[in-house]
Order: sequence, then C-alpha cells, then structure tokens
Amino acid sequence: KKSGDSVYYTLKAEAGTTTFKPGVKTKTMGYDGSYLGPTIRVRRGQTVHTKVVNQLNQRTSLHWHGALVPGKADGGPFEPIAAGKTKQTTFKVDQQAATLWYHPHAMGTTASQVYHGLAGFMLVDDQNSQKLNLPKKYGVDDFPLVVQDRTFSKAGQFDYQADYNADGTEGNTLLVNGTLNPYINVTTNQVRLRLLNGSNARTYHFTLNHGATIRQIATDGGFLNQPVKMNQIDLAPGQRAEVVVNTANATSKNVALRTNGQRVLQLRLHSKRTGSRTLPVKLNHLTPTKQLNQFGLKHQTISFSGMGRMVRINGRVYNPDRIDLTAKPHTNQIWNLTNNDSMMGGMDHPFHIHGAQFRILSVNGKRPSAAESGLMDVVNLKPGKKVRVLMSFHDRGIFVYHCHNLEHEENGMMGQVKVE
Ligand code: C2O
Ligand code: CU
Ligand code: CU
Repeated sequence: KKSGDSVYYTLKAEAGTTTFKPGVKTKTMGYDGSYLGPTIRVRRGQTVHTKVVNQLNQRTSLHWHGALVPGKADGGPFEPIAAGKTKQTTFKVDQQAATLWYHPHAMGTTASQVYHGLAGFMLVDDQNSQKLNLPKKYGVDDFPLVVQDRTFSKAGQFDYQADYNADGTEGNTLLVNGTLNPYINVTTNQVRLRLLNGSNARTYHFTLNHGATIRQIATDGGFLNQPVKMNQIDLAPGQRAEVVVNTANATSKNVALRTNGQRVLQLRLHSKRTGSRTLPVKLNHLTPTKQLNQFGLKHQTISFSGMGRMVRINGRVYNPDRIDLTAKPHTNQIWNLTNNDSMMGGMDHPFHIHGAQFRILSVNGKRPSAAESGLMDVVNLKPGKKVRVLMSFHDRGIFVYHCHNLEHEENGMMGQVKVE
C-alpha cells in the first residue's frame, strides 16, 4: 500500500501458558498469543487504526512507546481498559523510521503485566529507510530482539510478587524474544539487530566476541547521521539501539552477543555468507548538536531522587490530577535532567517521555558522543548525572514522563506535561 493509506490492527491482551523449559507450562501473558506480541509494521504517512481487546481479568492499557501520537492515542496511565473491555484509537504515523515498541501502562498493573510478557515491537519505515542500502529482510538479516530478565520459580513459574523488588525487579535468567538459550542463523556478512531492553529494571552492556564488529545505526527515534563503530552498547530499560554486526572477519563459527560476561544470544555463522560488507556513509540528516537552536526556549528542571517507595521527581510523587508542566505543540524546550542521588549507593533512573523526542545537548557539561547524538525518548540518569536535552513536543494532549525502571514508575516516579 502507498503511504497515506490506512492499516488496521487488533491486539488481544490475553493470559496463557508458554513452554520456555521442556515440559513446563509457565503462566504468561501476551498479545494474540501467550507471550509478547506481533511485530507491527507501519509507514510514515499511514493512518493506523488499532483495537485493543482486554481479555485479562485485570485492567490494562496499550502504550506506543516512542510514537509521536496525540495524547488520546498514547495509551498512557489515564485511560485504562477495564477487564473485558475494548478500546479503539487512531493515529497518523508522523515520524522518522525507527524501532518502537508497545506495552501496557495502567497504574498498578504495568510492571507485573510487562514481566508476564505483554510487549511487542512497532517498526516504522519511511522513504529513507526503504532507500538505504541496509539489511532489511525481516528474520533473515534484520532481527528485532527484545532482551528480558526473568526468574523461574522451582515450579517453572514467574512469581512477580515473590521476586518483587521496590527498586526494580530483576531476574537471573535472560530471554530473547521469549526464548531461553536463543540463537540466530547468520547467512549474510552483515546482520541488523534491533535491540530493545524490555526488562523491568536491568540495564545491559552488550558486546560481541570473536572479531565480529558492531556499528550502531539508530537510537530510539531513528537513524544516526552515520554508522558509529561501538565496542559496547548500553541499554537501559525501554531503550532501543539498531546495530549492524559485521561478521566478515569473525574468527569463530559461533559469535556471542554478551552482557556482563553472560551470553545473551548466539550468532551461528554459515560458512558461506553472502551480501554487502559495507554500510552507507550517510544515514540521516539530523542537525548537529552544536547547531541546534537553543535561543529563547523555555527551560525546565527535572530532578530524580530517592529509592524504593520514596522515589520522587522534583520532590513530588505522581498525581494523575496534577499537571506538572506545560508546552505548546510542535515547539522545543530545554530540559535539564538530573539524578540527585548520591554517587555512592544511589540508583540509575532511566528518564522517558511520551509523545516527544529529544536530542542530548550535554552530559555533565560535555557534548554527547556520536552515538548519543540521535533522536531519543529514553536516557539513563546515573547517580549524580546531569543531562541537558532539547525536547521537541509534537501533538496535543497530556503525556507522562517517568523513570522507566517500572517498579519506580509504579511507585510514582512520574509526572505529566500538558501540550496544548
Ligand atoms: Cu515505555 Cu511510559 O513507557
Ligand atoms: Cu513511552
Ligand atoms: Cu528510577
């Protein structure tokens, strides 16, 4: 279909069982299935009609993480879908090609529903992404990979209540796309991995071994201006990175994507790999950081502090009836994001905002690295860190910003901005 057309998606949030370990049925949740959900593919200019059917016995919502949609279609915490109910929304895709995702966002059920499996990808394409000479055969040389940590109880179940940690629920077992001990068959010299940290609270530090190289091509909101060679990709909860792995000089038939010495994913290399070994020099035309116009913009200070049930933004706990900040649609502001926790024993707070994208202007007063210079909707704030961003608002509506450590978010580390 041409851009300007309509697409229709129905997503059923449902409970079921998933076999992660042979012979064990783990109780899980998924969209149109028992764990995770379908990958939704849309193109810039399309009108997307969605219908979310809540077949769970608890409230839910469906939030399009990273999508620049009106507040009414955002699926944030204000409009939960009661058990047994259905909600329809419509939005127009009005942003660059990017790897986005969707997940529930109703207060009180977000963290446990994500933990049980409610999440999926939404991939946006545009003219640029269709033209660029990049790996783009889904499941062949282009893989969406959601990385999550879970703990299996002795009975092979996810016991969210038992494993709950008010400072972020972390598991001891890694799953990629809901698979234990995952691998992909690599038949080409270059493969594109669309990495999503879909964990409640854990941050990953991805590396590759055996001479395979990583070039980052996109951040949360779209392509970088050029591929950036990386030794390590750090992803906080909610963050995405698109990378191209070049295996042309790999010294082993089995390359591993790792985090902190643990294997995340095995890349099984075919002996005769085909296809391009190079990447386009130019991927995008984002304004360089130092040329971004900051003149005359409104400034906001957003400071994160606290741990456990005492988490706060600007000293306050989330109140759905309070508007914390305002902005005008299609305008920019400067946001000074700070983590006020002490560098000793404080916690990371991955900042995320709905319905907007930002560019990093500085990190602790220094210019961002090339890989930090793209379009973002999540940035990790380590204790004591100060990140200054150019925030670009889009459509009208009320949007939340919050810590994407989902337990912190549920404990009220969230505020809201009204764009009108
Ligand atoms: Cu990933 Cu408020 O969302
Ligand atoms: Cu979001
Ligand atoms: Cu936090």
